[in-house]
Amino acid sequence: MGLNPHGGDHHREHKKMIDFSVNVHPLGFPQGLRRILNDQVDQLPYYPEIDGLHAREDLAEALELSRDEVILGNGAVELIYLYARLCRGKNVLIIGPTFNEYERAFRLAGADVSIFATMEEEDFELSIPRLEATLLDRPEVEVVVLCHPNNPTGTGISRIEDILQAVGDCEMLVDESFWEFSELPSFLPYINKHQILVLRSMTKFYALAGLRVGYGCGSKQLIDRMVNEKEPWTLNQFALASIPHLIRADAYQREVREWVRNEKLQFLQSLEMEPSWIVYPGHANFVLIKFPFELNALRERMKEEGIYFRICTDFQELGPSFGRFTIRDHREGIKLIEHLRGGLK
Ligand SMILES: Cc1ncc(COP(=O)(O)O)c(C=O)c1O
Repeated sequence: MGLNPHGGDHHREHKKMIDFSVNVHPLGFPQGLRRILNDQVDQLPYYPEIDGLHAREDLAEALELSRDEVILGNGAVELIYLYARLCRGKNVLIIGPTFNEYERAFRLAGADVSIFATMEEEDFELSIPRLEATLLDRPEVEVVVLCHPNNPTGTGISRIEDILQAVGDCEMLVDESFWEFSELPSFLPYINKHQILVLRSMTKFYALAGLRVGYGCGSKQLIDRMVNEKEPWTLNQFALASIPHLIRADAYQREVREWVRNEKLQFLQSLEMEPSWIVYPGHANFVLIKFPFELNALRERMKEEGIYFRICTDFQELGPSFGRFTIRDHREGIKLIEHLRGGLK
């Protein structure tokens, strides 16, 4: 099985690109982190902590959990693959269209995978009654996977109890990698009431895709099982030393939330000028749009002109008329809209 396509894949060729394809905001990482990273250079002769125990403790304290309920990953993606390995031979239902690594991870791990498709006619919102009916019909399902808010549709659940009731005894993988941008409730308070692994990523909110830091939260029993399956030293010294600084960067966290909220609002207002484009604003730092034309050729042309975005050809149920655009400065958003209008000519 080859690797999946993702946003940001032009990076090495085109450093000057205005990149709407990768869901990382353009504000940069928190001030002060550069010094911390520089200081770690002296630590390079030594192994980092094998399981990042101190960073785990710090993170657990900030999340009001115990360190035994937290596991660190080399990006959230490491933990998706690790959790999937615990699900070998299980029957897994993924709520889609969604992030393509879940399906790959579970298939590689030898799980029996199927997709529960949310529908365009329902704005890709998850219909809990339909999910509940599907699960009643298919008692063999053991694991349900939900991305919250979802990449690429941006949808989220406002009443968590409803979905927990619908999934009943199934385990859940809930990926909250974009949750910090949203005002949605979190699944975190439920990790000891249901069998749930909640994943978070530090890639998006802290603009640190290159550092590779993510974490998972679950019951002690689940985290113990994951630790038993995990490779040693998957987080390097730079990543481990960053965690305590990132979780305490309150002013930065407020700034990012506010900036994304304002720029998104203005981008959405500009999009109102194009009534034939169907906009899915969602709860994250990106927007999904369906155009009345296919995007393939236009995207190539725009790439030449220095603007790049994510085409959704590889997402189940979407296709070449759907594009996903990360929130950037709204003036860049206006430039983007002008170029996309060119697609109509
Ligand atoms: C929903 C979702 N989860 C996880 C990831 C991977 O995050 P990380 O960079 O922390 O591995 C992505 C990356 O795009 C994502 O969209």
